Amino acid sequence: MARSLTPLPHMLHGADYNPEQWLHDPAILAQDIEQMKLAHFNCVSVGIFSWAALEPAEGEYRLDWLAEIIDRLYENGICTVLATPSAARPVWMAKKYPEVLRTGADRVRGLMGGRHNHCYTSPVYREKVRAINTKLAERFAKHPAVILWHISNELQGECHCELCQEAFRGWLKEKYGSLEALNRAWWTAFWSHTYTDWSQIESPSPLGETNIHGLNLDWKRFCTHQTVDFFEHEIAPLKAANPSLPVTTNFMGFHDSFDYYKLRPLLDVISWDSYPLWHNSENGDERYNALWSDAYSDLCRSMLGKPFLIMENTPSQTNWHGVCRPKKAGFHKLTAVSSLAHGADSIQYFQWRQSRGCSEKFHGAVMTHSNRTDTRVFQEVSAVGEMLGKLDRLCGAKAIAKAAILYDTESHWAVNDAKGPRNDGIGDNELFFRFYEPLWKAGIAVDIVNAEMDFSGYHLLCVPMLYLLRGDVAKRIADFTKQGGTVILTMHTGLVDENDLCFMGDTPAQGLGEVVGVRMLEIDALYDYQHETMRIRHTPFPMAESYRCGKLCERISAEGADILAVYESDDPCLPDNLPCLTRHEYGRGIAYYLAAFAEPRFFSDFLLSLCERLGIKPALDTTLPDGVTAASRMAEGGERFYFVMNWTAESKSVNLPFGLTDVETGRQYRSVLPMPPYAARILLRSV
Ligand code: GLA
Ligand code: ZN
Repeated sequence: MARSLTPLPHMLHGADYNPEQWLHDPAILAQDIEQMKLAHFNCVSVGIFSWAALEPAEGEYRLDWLAEIIDRLYENGICTVLATPSAARPVWMAKKYPEVLRTGADRVRGLMGGRHNHCYTSPVYREKVRAINTKLAERFAKHPAVILWHISNELQGECHCELCQEAFRGWLKEKYGSLEALNRAWWTAFWSHTYTDWSQIESPSPLGETNIHGLNLDWKRFCTHQTVDFFEHEIAPLKAANPSLPVTTNFMGFHDSFDYYKLRPLLDVISWDSYPLWHNSENGDERYNALWSDAYSDLCRSMLGKPFLIMENTPSQTNWHGVCRPKKAGFHKLTAVSSLAHGADSIQYFQWRQSRGCSEKFHGAVMTHSNRTDTRVFQEVSAVGEMLGKLDRLCGAKAIAKAAILYDTESHWAVNDAKGPRNDGIGDNELFFRFYEPLWKAGIAVDIVNAEMDFSGYHLLCVPMLYLLRGDVAKRIADFTKQGGTVILTMHTGLVDENDLCFMGDTPAQGLGEVVGVRMLEIDALYDYQHETMRIRHTPFPMAESYRCGKLCERISAEGADILAVYESDDPCLPDNLPCLTRHEYGRGIAYYLAAFAEPRFFSDFLLSLCERLGIKPALDTTLPDGVTAASRMAEGGERFYFVMNWTAESKSVNLPFGLTDVETGRQYRSVLPMPPYAARILLRSV
């Protein structure tokens, strides 16, 4: 039997459901259930912003309406993902206890309004959350309809109130033990910013301190710690009532207000909300949006090494993009299949029914204001539900990745804050995506791991710009290579320690220089319109003669490494034959060093040949047409599902290495798989 993420042994299909907006209208509530059945829903997420309905006055709990809705849904075959309501507070609470409201970096406390803006430290907020979560747990933690806890909503942000400042100081005291140690770690002698009393320390602010990078980093770590601590506090009563009911919280993609990875030990299931800017290209080419979304799905899948949930995506349009384009006909299925391909065990929406008022009334929903089920969007959602209904065997199926890319949130924060060597556009993940894109295009499964995760099981580890080294990551990269792995390090790696203090001596530091057999001499930053050339001398596999590079061109000296490519620069003062790409045998493995920010073609030529060398196979052993991607997942028992997606407005066809059968239609394809515009298929090997 397939291993599902929740007690429900099916792929989940459902949406955020906010019946509290319709409690005055029982007819709508009754229709909801009938319409959800037509949409092939088997779950809904309830309670996300329901606090005012659950506790209309302090200490006065009204859970009966929720119980009734959960029961009625269940009687109709629809389970509940039950949320804790902490993502938005009732007005009475904000008025009576202003401390629950968040204070900005400008030290101004917000008024009641919006959501996702409570103070994580406030004892009052924590007590109120504990109390309501306890009530929810007592009533629902063992309810057969409830399959998953949804903690709060899109955790994010920071609070600079006095309570948080005090907690920050306490956290720092524990971390550093003495002010002297803190001053040293933060390098505060610079500009005379030395602290002489703990009470002088404040969070970063545009009105005050922003220049101490160690402080900035520790503040982000503290905010992460406080969010995680709050999360732990939220789940305590839930786990006490039923330890086996899984918990999740919905991530927001490459969003770095706190380090999601720190929640790993507390999460049973990873989930995320996917809102790419679909249809923003000039020619109908969707691959850059798809690339972003699939990369984040890969990251979520890698986090716990198992499938994840798409907790939200829009069935049509979002209402907060600059231009809110609805998904084109057929496109909804494509995005759904692609999420499944990269490891999702659900397709869930924001939202079930459009609200009548307030800021999301024009956000896409399964049920629009027309209240009809014959709309195009409803029909497409229902078709996806029908498709998911045939995929029980896919639940829990794994994507087996032999290649990984290291993406470390802390290093990413530090690169963005570093002030130099280039402040325009190096901290925006561009280099990460240069590595990811060719693998994604070729259908090669990639895991995305952070500095704390185990990479011993991979054959290839790509390490784009690991500027900050923390913990034992350098040693583990060295061990990985020594034991036979292939690693690629790049420019701007191994420069600072975990306090963002530059290493003294040669870099890449902490032994990474020895791994790659290279020493950094200096780094040049180029304007966008400036370029240099990487001239290939010899490589273990065929490559073009030269590649353009720009942005960051590090000058290195080879200390034992073999020089595969050199710079050709118009700078008459630069010595000839400065290495640009090197290869070094280290232990039983190979370490490459890429000194320059090369053009995308380089990554595609280099990585694909390297993967071939290493026996890292794509999902389908064929050359995919431009704009078509593929992936595969292995179910328990060895059954392998294949997914093929066409992200372009043109018809394509894929040459198949073996016969495949479409899971939905049963149609068999022997040697060619036709892919109409924006088509997506799920297939099994024909027998
Ligand atoms: C986020 C939130 C939802 C909703 C959607 C709209 O993902 O979690 O509550 O606001 O955005 O796109
Ligand atoms: Zn606060």
